[in-house]
Amino acid sequence: MTDNVVLNTINNRRSIREYLDKPVSNEILSLIFKAGFRAPFAAQLCSVIYTRSRDKMKEAGISVYPTAPVHMIFFIDVVRLEKIMAHRGHDYGYDDMMTLWLGMQDVVLMIENLTIAAESLGLGSVLYGLAPLRADSIATTFKVPNRVFPVVGMSVGYPDPAEETEIRPRFPLEMAAFEDEYRDHTDQDIKSCMKVMDEGYIAQGYYIKSRTKVDLIDKEDTIGFDTYSWSEHISRKFRNAFRREGPLLDILQRHGFDLK
Ligand SMILES: Cc1cc2nc3c(=O)[nH]c(=O)nc-3n(C[C@H](O)[C@H](O)[C@H](O)COP(=O)(O)O)c2cc1C
Repeated sequence: MTDNVVLNTINNRRSIREYLDKPVSNEILSLIFKAGFRAPFAAQLCSVIYTRSRDKMKEAGISVYPTAPVHMIFFIDVVRLEKIMAHRGHDYGYDDMMTLWLGMQDVVLMIENLTIAAESLGLGSVLYGLAPLRADSIATTFKVPNRVFPVVGMSVGYPDPAEETEIRPRFPLEMAAFEDEYRDHTDQDIKSCMKVMDEGYIAQGYYIKSRTKVDLIDKEDTIGFDTYSWSEHISRKFRNAFRREGPLLDILQRHGFDLK
């Protein structure tokens, strides 16, 4: 801990999944959106839609944590820039891979600013990664046009202090921040990364308490909850991912992005 308020806010942030039954006012939402859009940007290729309706999120294909009062979906938004360019008499020149690359950066910088602003006002948040794979139902529910594409969803609200939330571990800094040149990870480095993450999550009882485990589709599961750890969890997620959901490329094409 330091006496630096910004650093303390950043370093104490953790995902919040249980909320107080306390509304979030429009004034507070305006403050955090304004802070979000103060992020550095390539071309402000981003928009957010928010709702207080859990049913609407369900209709859009995103199940939100039940006590969360406000929900958001963040989009890469190319339409607005294309309209501005049309007013200027210019055709759009970037290929869509570059468009999405820049748009992704604009969106995630905005989300992080907004998240920290929310924390500074006593709010908490949690992200929902399923949004891009639910682009069809999100577009229908929220009347989203082509070339506006969901990146991630989020709930925001006042954290329930009765619910214990811990600060989750991260890789050791020396494994991810390098001076002057990239340092390839040795087997020992990888083991240290796994040790910090696995021992940290097991000590917090994260998977036991939440009864969270990714099923193995085509292999016998020999790992019990007592030894199920972060590196096993993340490996299973990335192993199973697209067998369940289908390729993102097709979804992007359906929503007006030409990536062939
Ligand atoms: C792109 C993305 C998608 C996420 N999706 C989910 C989600 O669907 N459900 C959830 O409970 N948390 C989700 N999270 C939150 C992560 O699980 C969480 O940030 C991570 O476990 C680290 O914990 P911390 O945020 O408390 O430090 C997501 C985070 C990111 C960046």
